[in-house]
Amino acid sequence: MADLHVVTNANKHLYGDALDEYFRLRHKIYVDERRWMELAKPDGREIDQFDTSDTVYLMAMEGRRVVGSHRLNPTTKPTLMSDLFPQLAFRGLIRRPDAYELSRVFVIRERRGEQAQPRVESVIMAGTMEYALAQGISQFTIVMETWWLPRFQDMGWRLRPLGLPTMINGMSCIGVVADVTEEVWVETCTRRSVRGSVLVWNGLEPMAPEQRVAAG
Ligand code: COA
Repeated sequence: MADLHVVTNANKHLYGDALDEYFRLRHKIYVDERRWMELAKPDGREIDQFDTSDTVYLMAMEGRRVVGSHRLNPTTKPTLMSDLFPQLAFRGLIRRPDAYELSRVFVIRERRGEQAQPRVESVIMAGTMEYALAQGISQFTIVMETWWLPRFQDMGWRLRPLGLPTMINGMSCIGVVADVTEEVWVETCTRRSVRGSVLVWNGLEPMAPEQRVAAG
């Protein structure tokens, strides 16, 4: 089973090679595979304005190999929803220290749709909830293609739309907010055969919620 490593500005020096591989994988997946050509970079690393010192990467790793990931950004700073797609939140943007935006979820091709349990995608989703609970994050905002809606529902996540489905570059997209609760975490683990904690805090102290809010 893959582990989900928490990688932040504070411990990224321990993940130099893995982070480089991670940005190359993003290029391979989003530019070469999904053909989101506006993300193309001459050096083959897909890095954008939302990869900052505040970004948290939850990296699914098998040994030292990156097999998937999720990216988190604080909603108090610029996000995809605030800066690129505000039309997806016409009822108003969520900007709170305890709300983070999720983006760039992926699993490498060889590890998708596997029958072996738990799937890498399940480890990422369960671990994302686990991380939020450990950090006192109460909501996630997400800009996503609408095909995700039944998938999230099937995992037990509780989503509310922030606007209407909208066509962007030929894709039906929607802005949503997802509640973080222990019930949702347990539900995700149960439905997706994830047996408990999947997070690795290499060189980090998991911060108690009250410390995080004070620091933020
Ligand atoms: N459009 C529509 N549906 C899609 C899709 C897409 N681009 N990608 C995945 N799905 C849906 C399909 O229902 C698929 O079922 P199918 O086998 O009947 O086609 C289902 O998701 C399972 O996807 P699969 O890729 O087999 O496995 P997974 O659950 O292990 O991984 C992703 C899902 C999305 C993580 C993986 O497909 C991936 O990394 N995709 C590329 C990155 C990406 O597009 N991320 C989302 C935008 S940030």
